[in-house]
Amino acid sequence: MDIDRRNFLKQGIFIMGGLITAGIGIPATTYFLAPLWHKEEEDWIEAGTVADFPIGEPFKIDFVQRKHDGWMTVEGRSSAWAVTSDGKQFTVFDPRCTHLGCPYRWDTEKKKFLCPCHNAVFSITGEVLAGPPPRPLDHLPAKVAGGKLLIKPAEKKEEG
Ligand code: FES
Repeated sequence: MDIDRRNFLKQGIFIMGGLITAGIGIPATTYFLAPLWHKEEEDWIEAGTVADFPIGEPFKIDFVQRKHDGWMTVEGRSSAWAVTSDGKQFTVFDPRCTHLGCPYRWDTEKKKFLCPCHNAVFSITGEVLAGPPPRPLDHLPAKVAGGKLLIKPAEKKEEG
Protein backbone atom coordinates (compact mmCIF):
# COMPACT_ATOMS: atom_id res chain seq x y z
CA MET A 1 0.00 0.00 0.00
CA ASP A 2 2.86 2.35 0.83
CA ILE A 3 4.47 1.71 -2.53
CA ASP A 4 1.24 2.53 -4.39
CA ARG A 5 0.88 5.73 -2.42
CA ARG A 6 4.50 6.66 -3.11
CA ASN A 7 4.05 5.98 -6.84
CA PHE A 8 0.83 7.96 -6.88
CA LEU A 9 2.58 10.95 -5.29
CA LYS A 10 5.52 10.63 -7.69
CA GLN A 11 3.22 10.63 -10.69
CA GLY A 12 1.23 13.56 -9.28
CA ILE A 13 4.38 15.59 -8.76
CA PHE A 14 5.60 14.65 -12.25
CA ILE A 15 2.31 15.75 -13.85
CA MET A 16 2.22 18.98 -11.83
CA GLY A 17 5.81 19.71 -12.86
CA GLY A 18 4.89 19.13 -16.49
CA LEU A 19 1.90 21.46 -16.30
CA ILE A 20 3.93 24.21 -14.62
CA THR A 21 6.73 23.84 -17.18
CA ALA A 22 4.22 24.01 -20.06
CA GLY A 23 2.41 26.96 -18.43
CA ILE A 24 5.62 28.97 -18.24
CA GLY A 25 7.55 27.49 -21.16
CA ILE A 26 5.00 27.92 -23.95
CA PRO A 27 4.38 31.67 -23.40
CA ALA A 28 8.10 32.28 -22.84
CA THR A 29 9.06 30.41 -26.02
CA THR A 30 6.40 32.26 -28.00
CA TYR A 31 7.67 35.59 -26.64
CA PHE A 32 11.29 34.90 -27.59
CA LEU A 33 10.50 33.45 -31.01
CA ALA A 34 7.93 36.10 -32.00
CA PRO A 35 10.56 38.38 -33.61
CA LEU A 36 11.30 35.64 -36.12
CA TRP A 37 7.78 35.89 -37.51
CA HIS A 38 7.70 39.65 -37.32
CA LYS A 39 9.45 41.65 -39.98
CA GLU A 40 8.61 45.18 -39.10
CA GLU A 41 9.88 48.57 -40.04
CA GLU A 42 10.28 51.42 -37.70
CA ASP A 43 7.03 53.33 -37.79
CA TRP A 44 7.27 57.10 -37.55
CA ILE A 45 10.67 58.75 -37.83
CA GLU A 46 11.35 62.12 -36.28
CA ALA A 47 12.50 64.41 -39.09
CA GLY A 48 13.18 67.55 -37.08
CA THR A 49 11.66 70.48 -35.26
CA VAL A 50 8.86 72.12 -37.21
CA ALA A 51 9.93 75.65 -36.20
CA ASP A 52 13.34 75.11 -37.86
CA PHE A 53 11.93 74.40 -41.32
CA PRO A 54 11.53 77.08 -43.99
CA ILE A 55 8.05 78.04 -45.13
CA GLY A 56 7.23 77.97 -48.83
CA GLU A 57 10.59 76.48 -49.87
CA PRO A 58 11.21 72.70 -50.17
CA PHE A 59 13.89 71.32 -47.88
CA LYS A 60 15.70 68.02 -47.72
CA ILE A 61 15.43 65.78 -44.66
CA ASP A 62 18.19 63.28 -43.90
CA PHE A 63 17.51 60.54 -41.39
CA VAL A 64 18.47 57.04 -40.31
CA GLN A 65 15.96 54.32 -41.18
CA ARG A 66 15.91 51.20 -39.00
CA LYS A 67 14.47 47.90 -40.14
CA HIS A 68 13.86 45.13 -37.62
CA ASP A 69 14.14 41.60 -38.95
CA GLY A 70 13.99 38.93 -36.26
CA TRP A 71 16.55 39.92 -33.66
CA MET A 72 18.55 41.96 -36.17
CA THR A 73 18.21 45.69 -36.71
CA VAL A 74 19.54 47.04 -39.99
CA GLU A 75 20.22 50.77 -40.22
CA GLY A 76 20.44 52.76 -43.40
CA ARG A 77 20.67 56.44 -44.22
CA SER A 78 17.77 57.84 -46.16
CA SER A 79 16.24 61.16 -47.14
CA ALA A 80 13.06 62.86 -48.27
CA TRP A 81 11.94 66.25 -49.54
CA ALA A 82 9.35 68.24 -47.64
CA VAL A 83 7.48 71.48 -48.11
CA THR A 84 5.04 73.46 -46.02
CA SER A 85 3.11 76.65 -46.68
CA ASP A 86 2.08 77.27 -43.07
CA GLY A 87 4.42 75.29 -40.78
CA LYS A 88 1.51 73.05 -39.78
CA GLN A 89 0.69 70.90 -42.79
CA PHE A 90 3.65 69.25 -44.51
CA THR A 91 3.90 67.47 -47.83
CA VAL A 92 6.73 64.97 -47.86
CA PHE A 93 8.04 63.43 -51.08
CA ASP A 94 9.89 60.18 -51.64
CA PRO A 95 13.38 61.28 -52.76
CA ARG A 96 13.36 59.02 -55.83
CA CYS A 97 12.24 60.23 -59.24
CA THR A 98 9.15 58.39 -60.42
CA HIS A 99 10.80 57.63 -63.76
CA LEU A 100 13.72 55.36 -62.87
CA GLY A 101 14.44 56.29 -59.28
CA CYS A 102 17.24 58.85 -59.57
CA PRO A 103 17.58 61.35 -56.76
CA TYR A 104 16.24 64.73 -57.79
CA ARG A 105 16.90 68.15 -56.22
CA TRP A 106 15.15 71.46 -55.67
CA ASP A 107 16.37 74.33 -57.85
CA THR A 108 15.86 77.53 -55.86
CA GLU A 109 16.14 79.80 -58.90
CA LYS A 110 13.79 77.87 -61.19
CA LYS A 111 11.51 76.97 -58.25
CA LYS A 112 11.19 73.43 -59.52
CA PHE A 113 12.42 69.94 -58.71
CA LEU A 114 14.90 68.76 -61.33
CA CYS A 115 15.97 65.20 -62.02
CA PRO A 116 19.37 65.12 -63.74
CA CYS A 117 19.07 61.61 -65.16
CA HIS A 118 16.58 62.29 -67.97
CA ASN A 119 15.79 65.97 -67.38
CA ALA A 120 12.48 65.56 -65.60
CA VAL A 121 10.94 68.65 -64.06
CA PHE A 122 8.44 68.57 -61.19
CA SER A 123 6.48 71.41 -59.64
CA ILE A 124 6.63 72.29 -55.93
CA THR A 125 3.54 70.08 -55.50
CA GLY A 126 5.25 67.16 -57.23
CA GLU A 127 3.36 67.34 -60.55
CA VAL A 128 5.29 66.36 -63.68
CA LEU A 129 6.03 69.47 -65.78
CA ALA A 130 8.45 67.90 -68.26
CA GLY A 131 10.31 64.71 -69.02
CA PRO A 132 9.49 61.01 -68.98
CA PRO A 133 8.17 60.35 -65.43
CA PRO A 134 4.82 58.54 -65.67
CA ARG A 135 3.36 60.06 -62.50
CA PRO A 136 3.87 62.83 -59.93
CA LEU A 137 6.37 62.48 -57.10
CA ASP A 138 5.33 59.89 -54.52
CA HIS A 139 4.15 61.21 -51.17
CA LEU A 140 5.23 59.82 -47.82
CA PRO A 141 2.92 59.85 -44.79
CA ALA A 142 3.72 62.80 -42.53
CA LYS A 143 2.30 64.38 -39.39
CA VAL A 144 3.23 66.93 -36.76
CA ALA A 145 3.30 65.90 -33.10
CA GLY A 146 4.82 67.77 -30.17
CA GLY A 147 6.39 70.36 -32.46
CA LYS A 148 8.23 67.65 -34.45
CA LEU A 149 7.72 66.55 -38.02
CA LEU A 150 7.23 62.78 -38.18
CA ILE A 151 7.43 60.85 -41.42
CA LYS A 152 6.98 57.26 -42.51
CA PRO A 153 9.68 56.50 -45.05
CA ALA A 154 9.08 54.26 -48.02
CA GLU A 155 10.62 50.82 -48.01
CA LYS A 156 13.89 50.76 -49.90
CA LYS A 157 13.94 48.59 -52.98
CA GLU A 158 16.72 46.03 -53.15
CA GLU A 159 19.38 46.80 -55.72
CA GLY A 160 19.54 43.98 -58.17
S1 FES B 1 15.09 58.96 -63.46
FE1 FES B 1 14.39 60.99 -63.27
S2 FES B 1 13.96 61.53 -65.30
FE2 FES B 1 14.63 59.49 -65.47
